[in-house]
Amino acid sequence: MVPDEVPVIAIDGPGGSGKGVITHKLAVHLGFHILDSGALYRVIGFAARNHSIDLDDEPALAELARTLDVHFEPTRDPESPLRVLLEGTDVTQALRTDEAASDASRVAPLAQVREGIGALQHSFKQLPGLVADGRDMGTVVFTDAVLKIYLTASAQARAERRYNQLIDKDISVSLHDLFESIQARDERDMKRAVAPLKPAQDAYVIDSTDLDIDQVFALVLSAVKEKLG
Ligand code: C5P
Repeated sequence: MVPDEVPVIAIDGPGGSGKGVITHKLAVHLGFHILDSGALYRVIGFAARNHSIDLDDEPALAELARTLDVHFEPTRDPESPLRVLLEGTDVTQALRTDEAASDASRVAPLAQVREGIGALQHSFKQLPGLVADGRDMGTVVFTDAVLKIYLTASAQARAERRYNQLIDKDISVSLHDLFESIQARDERDMKRAVAPLKPAQDAYVIDSTDLDIDQVFALVLSAVKEKLG
């Protein structure tokens, strides 16, 4: 297979902007594979804690990234479209916590960690195509993506969405704490030296602050139609 014949759709943006749901809906619609690159950084943070590796120990984290024993299995649940198996154990739920997100954004700025998972990320590029969800899919990893979408929303709207998700699950949280943690993560992701979160120059930017998922998906689909026919 010639990898360059495989279409990639990159969907980047900050946490809580709806990338995960849009990625899943689009992949199902097109019959494409999914790369959840955020899950890879979450897995590295999680595995580091399991193996008592310090989250600042770049060489040890890089080695962990290169040798990561991780597998993704598709599910039918749009809220959680991939089951993540780390060293044979299902860690899907453990990776969705705000602590796991925060750990991920601590290991993600490390250049050697990002290099360590480079080959793994590219291995997801398979026919008939790939929808890749992350922060640097269009700017660094798949610069030749046929379509690059940057999906964003105000920090307040993203905090409220997360708050409602957790309340629906009977998990009590403070909206203010969520807002602060989202802002802190945005800051780390946008201001880091390596692969900072920003729209690619040729990205189609969608601000979902005042849009629901169906409206966002309609915009994405029309962009896909224009590019892929
Ligand atoms: O998308 P998700 O919330 O799972 O990402 C968790 C963290 O992983 C992000 O806050 C970011 O620090 C990091 N990440 C990254 N590059 C990606 C995807 C995620 O740096 N492509």
